[in-house]
Amino acid sequence: MHPIKRPDHFKLGLFSSNCSGGLAVTKIDERWGATWPENLRMAKLADQVGIDFLLPIARWIGYKGDTNFHGHVLEPIPWAAGLLAATERISVFATIHTAFNHPLVTAKQMATLDAIAPGRAGINVVAGWNKPEYEAMGVDMADAHDDRYGFAQEWFDVVKQAWEREGIYDVNGKYFTLQHVEAEPRPAPGNIPVLNAGSSTQGRDWAARNSDFVFTITPSAEAGADIVTGVKANARDAYSRDVGVLTLGHVVCRPTRAEAEDFMQYYAVDNADWGAVDYLMQLQGMHAQSFTPEMLATLRGRFASGHGSVPIVGTPDEVAAEIAKFHAAGFDGMTLAFVDYAGELEYFAQEVLPRLEAMGIRQPVASA
Ligand SMILES: Cc1cc2nc3c(=O)[nH]c(=O)nc-3n(C[C@H](O)[C@H](O)[C@H](O)COP(=O)(O)O)c2cc1C
Repeated sequence: MHPIKRPDHFKLGLFSSNCSGGLAVTKIDERWGATWPENLRMAKLADQVGIDFLLPIARWIGYKGDTNFHGHVLEPIPWAAGLLAATERISVFATIHTAFNHPLVTAKQMATLDAIAPGRAGINVVAGWNKPEYEAMGVDMADAHDDRYGFAQEWFDVVKQAWEREGIYDVNGKYFTLQHVEAEPRPAPGNIPVLNAGSSTQGRDWAARNSDFVFTITPSAEAGADIVTGVKANARDAYSRDVGVLTLGHVVCRPTRAEAEDFMQYYAVDNADWGAVDYLMQLQGMHAQSFTPEMLATLRGRFASGHGSVPIVGTPDEVAAEIAKFHAAGFDGMTLAFVDYAGELEYFAQEVLPRLEAMGIRQPVASA
């Protein structure tokens, strides 16, 4: 079974390892380079220790600062293809930006990933937000923005039809007029789980209608309980569908709390790439006046340490207890990020995964 679909199992994934820095906006020399050898090493280890899925970011230009955070990005489709071929059980997602990818090309790329590793490829659909990227691509975001999710709906309908429909057919939509379409091979029905990240009303609605999992940011595990309830209720009420809800955090796990906090201070405070942090926050509209200076300071720190996600810092006992809070809040799983995805995963797998299994919120890899 697709690891992402395992029941009674709090799913864990690794997010953003295809981008330089990962989620850590830091200048330290040992920051994540997102090279292919690093990704391959991480994926093989993740596969072996029982991590359920790998999730890349669709990113086209960097965030400036001293390091040009996310300036080096392995494109998700070939990244996923290579990692699926090199692993045996883990789910690997490709994150696809609707505005920059033709849906028939995406449909066939995904079908090809499913042919490489049947039942292990997934798609994460992103509908776009980052204006400088649209400018780099020469795509008008003003037009698309009015009906970004309308466009994304039609885009995804074309993908799904290509996966499901036999023979030759035409598509006559508002955005796509396609003649004599044919799409072979097709993935086996239900083989490609759909994930979507978006937080506006339209974004949540899109996810409720189309996704198996909503990927959403939360300020804390506790605050996530209402988000989970809202997303699930919306999907049930509006579309009679069940959706899973995933969120994201970043981890520093060390034998003592002091060591974990020292490392956090080192990479995310003393050596943060503040130029990139501020640019990233500004792009995401987070320097708006609605934030108090205290909220902004907390957020700014979180952007440096993990792109705004929840920090999970401490000893293996503390880290396991924090992760368990997300399970208790009703999340179906979460992604994690490490400064060194490969090196730190080894310690995490050795110390934290068995604790989560002992708590009964995850099943051992051997039972998959
Ligand atoms: C957890 C998370 C992951 C995301 N990953 C990507 C990504 O890889 N590439 C991208 O362009 N946008 C990404 N986004 C942005 C969303 O897809 C979306 O465009 C943005 O949140 C604005 O959507 P909204 O208007 O529905 O809030 C991500 C957002 C979240 C919350």
